[in-house]
Amino acid sequence: MCGIFGAVAAKPVADLLVEGLNRLEYRGYDSAGIVTLEDGELKRVCAVGKVDALRRRISTGGPLGQIGIAHTRWATHGAPSEHNSHPHIAPGVAVVHNGIVENHTELRSALKTQGCTFTSETDTEVIPWMISRSIAAGAAPARAMQEISERIEGSYAIGVLTQQDPDVIHARRAGSPLVAAFGDSGGFIASDVAALAGMAKEAVFLEDGDRAEIARDRVTIHDSTGRIAHRRIVRVDESFETLDRGGFAHFMLKEINEQPTVAAAVGARYAPSDAFDEIMVDFRRLDRVKLIACGSSYYACLVARRWLAEVAGLEADVELASEYRYAPVIAHTGNEVAIFLSQSGETADTLACLDKAKSLRIATIGVVNQMMSTLGREADYALPLLAGTEVGVASTKAFLAQLLVMARLVAHIGAMRGHRAAAERFREGLDRVPGWIAATLHNEAAIISVAEHFLHAKSAVFVARGGLYPLALEGALKLKEISYIHAEGFAAGELKHGPIALIDHTTPVVALAPSGELFSKVASNVREIAARGGRITVLGDRRAILSLSDVASTALTIPSCDDLIQPIVAAIPLQLLSYHVAVARGSDVDRPRNLAKSVTVE
Ligand code: G6P
Repeated sequence: MCGIFGAVAAKPVADLLVEGLNRLEYRGYDSAGIVTLEDGELKRVCAVGKVDALRRRISTGGPLGQIGIAHTRWATHGAPSEHNSHPHIAPGVAVVHNGIVENHTELRSALKTQGCTFTSETDTEVIPWMISRSIAAGAAPARAMQEISERIEGSYAIGVLTQQDPDVIHARRAGSPLVAAFGDSGGFIASDVAALAGMAKEAVFLEDGDRAEIARDRVTIHDSTGRIAHRRIVRVDESFETLDRGGFAHFMLKEINEQPTVAAAVGARYAPSDAFDEIMVDFRRLDRVKLIACGSSYYACLVARRWLAEVAGLEADVELASEYRYAPVIAHTGNEVAIFLSQSGETADTLACLDKAKSLRIATIGVVNQMMSTLGREADYALPLLAGTEVGVASTKAFLAQLLVMARLVAHIGAMRGHRAAAERFREGLDRVPGWIAATLHNEAAIISVAEHFLHAKSAVFVARGGLYPLALEGALKLKEISYIHAEGFAAGELKHGPIALIDHTTPVVALAPSGELFSKVASNVREIAARGGRITVLGDRRAILSLSDVASTALTIPSCDDLIQPIVAAIPLQLLSYHVAVARGSDVDRPRNLAKSVTVE
């Protein structure tokens, strides 16, 4: 993860650097720092915590350098601290880095024997030292950049400032995203093109192995062989989408409340019969689908698998990207498509799987919120989530949009494969989703009182069956990531194979048990939990809640809807429950500890 930014201009760049970091903060917020080159000296200012802490430091006696690099950190090697903050400096060289230097231990040992001294625990610090030593041995900075790429193992993006080349930012991309850009005010680098809005006019996405030199009036790119490379130039947005909380206490709450609008936008885009026409995959002949993602996006894939089976008669494998990237390759026969779900489109593991699928010559579809992201650009076909920018680290509206886009795609595939009645029934339900979500949001007051039962819990359990099982996993993930309460989701039928040992009167249990095909099965499991003293909250429609009212102490109400639609609607009360528990416990809801919005390291 981590965000890197750099600027070279005809005026002091400190403010530009801090603004750039502010826009990249979603990538990590453990510490932030900048280095500028002023009167030939590298000047470093860092602060632990969010970019605002750095901004406060800089506003008192800001640096005046007209070239600089900057970084917002998600700690991988070494705790969040000032000495571990980037940029890291060796004589005459400063470096910002996103990614991991996997062979840093060997490199560090070798450098130490040559007299280099280290001040941080980071993997990064070997990079400025290697560049510094190459320059000291007579190499030009560009040559030194080339040399380090031969020595570093891992994936990374780096920005480098040298005393030797005082007007140039050197940069290199090997696996982690990096953009070089230019405009009237100067030259830039950034981890994300959106961070450059209003600063640069045009940008190029560096390709793997590319090395760039960014000066005030030019950007030069060399490919991995050292040849000049001409990459496609894209226009940068003129204004940065300034996001405000719109009167809500947190972005997460705002984003939860935007879901009826998101659902309507997804419906408008994907309901028409020609919505998927540009995907040149013959769905009628498909033998298998692979669904690949991480985190909440992975849970959306689990829901989609169920839909594919029920609505399209198609089997799907769901893969955790972090596992699938290293899974043995089994030669496949027949027609297959790989679908990648990612809000950011930059999740490193998901992108590694995209490469893997491409190398196996499997058609790839990215379902992605950020269309300018690597997944958006590199998948054979990209379907936008239309969720709008999601600021809260815990995914809410993007998760909902993933479900809805996949639902529409599955209905399309089902119809193509001759399952017309099932596809039509599914579509009818999907058309009603915006209204059902709005109705569910109206229950917020009741959800706040349910949340009170979780405040002092050490551990919470979510159970469900069938299409709702992934929502038990998602509900537990939401609760743990923002309230820091240990929570697990289980298939209700599996409880008696072990997890039921966790149940006692201190354990809140959310049972997803709306009326439907599997209600009586889940209801039996709920009674087993009640018999062991578990404090049960039933998530269901009024009829289901009523029939379990003798054993459940609280309820989360959803409208009565088709089994296929329940996973979509159930997401809403689970989000609100986690949100209100987290708020009451005083967590930083939008920027929970230890997490980041875009996970660009594996
Ligand atoms: C992070 C986020 C999660 C997200 C996951 C996958 O862990 O905090 O909310 O589900 O990454 O991200 P992606 O951008 O690939 O959907």
